[in-house]
Formats: sequence, structure tokens, C-alpha cells
Amino acid sequence: MFIRQSLSTTRRLFSTNFANELQEAKPFSQIPKISALKLVMGNLPGGKYYKKSIKDIQDMFYKEYGCIVKMPGLFGQPEMIFTFNADDFEKAFRAEGIWPVRFGIETLKHYRETMRPEIYTEFGSLGTSDGQKWQTTRTIVNPIMMQPKTVKFYTQQIDEIAKELVEIMRNIKNDKNEMPGNFSDYLNRWSLESIATIAVEKRLNVLSGKTDDENSKKLIKVIRQFFEQGPEFEGKPSIWKYYETKDFKNLIEVYDTMTSIVFNYVNEAIKRFETEEVKEGQEESILRKLLKVNKNVAFITASDLLIAGVDTTASGVTFILYLLAKNPEKQEKLRSEILKILPEKNSQIDSEKMKNLPYLRAVIKESFRMLPVAGGNARKVAKDVVLAGYHVPKDSLIVMSAYNELSNPKFYPEPKKFIPERWLRESKESDQWKSKENNPFSFLPFGFGARSCVGKRIAELETEVVVSNIIRNFKLEWDYPDIKIKGLFANIPDSEMRFKITET
Ligand code: HEM
Repeated sequence: MFIRQSLSTTRRLFSTNFANELQEAKPFSQIPKISALKLVMGNLPGGKYYKKSIKDIQDMFYKEYGCIVKMPGLFGQPEMIFTFNADDFEKAFRAEGIWPVRFGIETLKHYRETMRPEIYTEFGSLGTSDGQKWQTTRTIVNPIMMQPKTVKFYTQQIDEIAKELVEIMRNIKNDKNEMPGNFSDYLNRWSLESIATIAVEKRLNVLSGKTDDENSKKLIKVIRQFFEQGPEFEGKPSIWKYYETKDFKNLIEVYDTMTSIVFNYVNEAIKRFETEEVKEGQEESILRKLLKVNKNVAFITASDLLIAGVDTTASGVTFILYLLAKNPEKQEKLRSEILKILPEKNSQIDSEKMKNLPYLRAVIKESFRMLPVAGGNARKVAKDVVLAGYHVPKDSLIVMSAYNELSNPKFYPEPKKFIPERWLRESKESDQWKSKENNPFSFLPFGFGARSCVGKRIAELETEVVVSNIIRNFKLEWDYPDIKIKGLFANIPDSEMRFKITET
């Protein structure tokens, strides 16, 4: 009774505060605005946004307009509100409603919903659907994918693939002990190999290059094409909505190829499962559990995992290795933690051992802070909100640009330094790097709430296992200028990743 009363009092207070805030808010029309002409001119050769990274463009927006700015909708693109402030990120997330909408990858959404209705009518895709259809799939997938025991199931296979990468690194180093210029391709293949063992339960053998399977070769090619060509259609004039350009038709071919390959793999798995029984006492795999619910849900989820999980994880690992190579003391500290738990170079990693690596987890977080894979989050607000003192109406699209807050000294003392210690539990060593003012909404590498990354646990498992294997085998060095970063659907390295490796 008392609890119910105090809850309703809190709710009343909250709505009174919000009503006051709304009454005092400046009107939407007064939010600083980038003019359409400035935006178009800026994106032309010689313009100030031309060929600039997403991070640089957002930094320019922040410097020129402050902590909130309106970007006009042009040629079929909707208007967007950019915010740079963690308090406002929280407000936008809290206004996301029961079926959060993220918006993005318009061409894939169009392909799935209008060209493949036979697959996407009853169940939505986590990546591209919204509303009830998204919710139906997410409700099925959450208990299957987000449980620690499901992820544990894959540790051994993920470890085997990481060890294969370590062996490959030994074989591809040149006479200066450096990785080749295309080392990022190897990391992408490692990531695809790892995700495919989970999504379609198949070793593609694309990492070793020992595959005769034409579909595997094609899959790695089309995922790359999707990642390179897809962003060309996002956040830019959407001419394809009115006229199917040659580039748009090519992208549709990429989507068709991906769809038929993943369908083949799921069909192959169904056949295998008819004869392969699950051993007694053994956990069932994600794919088996999803197939028990419905074949289309299994197919849709497998496609989403392959699309969302490959470049993101590969890029995250590249940034971690790079920051460790540039910070030898931190690398040494991590190595000694790993060697305490895993003293041999090649011993098998299991989930029990992985529990005792706090510094590794801190390294991963600090890397996500300094070089984020996702530079922010996005939501359509499901109700009116007040952001930066302005009234923002329901259904506005909010882009929460994280870069500014991730390097804000108010939250992260000495933000330009790589200091994993700031993420460790309270201790003398870590306290000096923590800020009392910190706001958890400043650091959301996997998003927030009901629509947050469904592959978080898998990404963490893969990352922890591969970094542990690399660091206990090699000392990493970086002898080149700082890397460049390219913003596609995720931030990826735009430099040759020529790590120097020495056996430990
Ligand atoms: C370092 C690696 C990764 C990062 C940084 C990352 C980050 C994100 C972020 C920021 C979102 C949006 C969350 C939101 O809107 O609140 C997201 C969504 C998603 N991610 Fe990840 N991700 C990673 C790896 C993965 C992996 C390995 C998988 C699959 C195995 C995956 C599958 C997905 C899916 C399916 C969604 C859409 C979820 C939904 O809308 O319901 N991600 N991810």
C-alpha cells in the first residue's frame, strides 16, 4: 500500500515537473538549424564536410551550433535532431516508447519489406523492422541469445577459431615481423568465421582460405559489398526511392545473394539436425532453438547476426589491438593478468577462466570509449520531450552523437589517455581516474533498453577470447602514424593495420 502510494506520488511529481519543463521550453522552431543550402554545398567537392569522417562532421556541428542542432530533411531523407549531451541522451531514450524505433539502413528495410514479403510478413527483422513485428521476433530471440549459458556453449569453437587466427598471424608476418597491409581482411574473416559457427552452425573455412564452397566465398564478398556500398544510400538524397539507379540495382543483387546463401545454410542445418541428435545434458544451440519456433525466425535472425555481427566485432578488436600496441605498459599489465589465468600459449580457454580477467574487460571498455565502433545511438521519440531547453515533439528523429561526451574531461579525467584503470572497481589505483559526475548515458557502446544490441554477449565472448589468445602469444607494436577511421554502418579502420608482432 505504502509502496503504491509513494510510486503514484513520484509519478505525479514527475509529470508536474515535466509539464513545467515543457511550459518553460523554447519552441522547436528556435533550435539552431543547419540550412539546406549549407549542407548541400558543404558536401560538394571543396565543401567543408566533403570527404570528412562522421566524427569530424559531428565535431564541426557541435562547435558551430552547440549541444543541439536540426539537420534538414533533403530528397526523401527525414529531418534529424543531433544532440551531443548525455543528459539529453537519457531523456531521448526514456521517451522511446514500448516499441523503440532506431531508423537506418533504408534500402535493406525496403528490400525485405517490399521485395521479400514471403519471409518478412509474420516476423520482423531485429535490424530493420519496427513496432509489433520487431517485438514478436525480439521476444523470441531475447531468451535464446541473451542467456550466459547459451553463449558459454560456443566458447570452445570461438577459441578454436581465435587460435587459427594466431597461427595465421605467425604465417603471414613479413621479414620485419609485421602484419600485411590487408590484415583487416583477416580480422573480418575471423569475425565472419566466428559468427557463422553461431548463426548457421557451419565452419565456412574462410579464415584459413581452405574453402571449396562457392557460397562461403560469395558470402564474404557480398557482406563486404553491403558494408561498402550500403552506406552510400543512407543519410544522403534518396534518389532510389523515385528511380532505380544502376548502383541501387547492384545493391539489390547483393541482398538477393545474401538471402539465398543464408537460406541454403539454414536448409543444410535443418537436414543435419534430422540425423544429429543433441547429446544428453548438452545445451541446445541458438539455431536449433530458433528452428523449433519457426523456420523464418531462424532464417531472419541468422541473416541479422551475419549482417550486424561481422564488421562491428572485427573493427572493435582492431581498435583494441591498436590501442594496446600504442600503450606498451598497459599491454604488459594485461599480459600478466592473462598469463596468471592462462599460463600456456595454447591452452584451451573456458568460460570459468574468462570470469577472472577484470583488466581485460577494462581494456575493452576503454577502447570502446576512445575509438567507438558505434559513434552514437538513434531513436524516434514516442512522446514530446525537452532537449537542451527546447520542446521536441513526438516522432522526431534524434541522433545521439557520443564522441563529445566520450572525451569529456568532466566524465573521463585526461580523456585523451588510454587508461583502462578508470573502469576497474573502486581502488586506490582506479579512483583517481573516475569522476563523481559521470553519467552512464555517456557510454553506451551497445545501445540502451529493449532495442539494445542483441549480440552483446556474443561480441564480448569473441573479443575477450581472441584478444587473450593474441596477447598471450605476441607482443604488439605500432611503428606508424595514427590510424584513420572511416564511418560506414560502423566505424572501421581506414589504414593498413601493420602491427609488428614478436613471440612472447
Ligand atoms: C563490438 C561489437 C558490437 C557493437 C559495438 C555493437 C553495437 C550495437 C549497437 C549500438 C546497436 C544499436 C542498439 C540500440 O539501438 O540501442 C546494435 C544493435 C544490434 N546488434 Fe550489435 N554490436 C556489436 C556486435 C554485434 C554482434 C556480434 C551481433 C550478432 C551476433 C550483433 C547484432 C545486433 C543486432 C541484431 C542488433 C539490432 C537489435 C534490435 O534492434 O533489436 N551486434 N549493436
